[in-house]
Amino acid sequence: MKISIGNDHAGTEYKLAIVGLLKSMNIEVVNHGTDGSDSVDYPDFIHPVASDVETNRADLGIIICGTGNGASMTANKHQGVRAALCWNREIVALAREHNNANILSLPARFISLSQALDMVKIFLSTNFEGGRHERRIEKIPCS
Ligand code: RB5
Repeated sequence: MKISIGNDHAGTEYKLAIVGLLKSMNIEVVNHGTDGSDSVDYPDFIHPVASDVETNRADLGIIICGTGNGASMTANKHQGVRAALCWNREIVALAREHNNANILSLPARFISLSQALDMVKIFLSTNFEGGRHERRIEKIPCS
């Protein structure tokens, strides 16, 4: 499995910890995020993640900003991307089971680091249920 990850300055600490977790799980990681604390513009670091998922260069993506909103709004402009803003483990599981989310968006300023790591594990280990949900996600794109 290959994961593409990106973040702005609000997500650097969590991104570095998540990269460590993924590597400990022997998962290949492509890091498009800033590794610093200087203020940056989140779209510059999120579009590359969404492009990786859109073009199947990565299986899944993880994006992190302060609220998770700017990151998910940016990613969801890409065709075939279903970025889910998640703030607890139940929302993550449902985002995979019902929405087949292919990018997890984390709000670093509103969840703890241990919550974030737990949510990443759930994101990677939960499968899409298909069935009626397949029909619904097929109706998401505008074209
Ligand atoms: C950065 O201050 C903050 O605006 C950004 O991380 C994010 O929350 C935007 O949606």
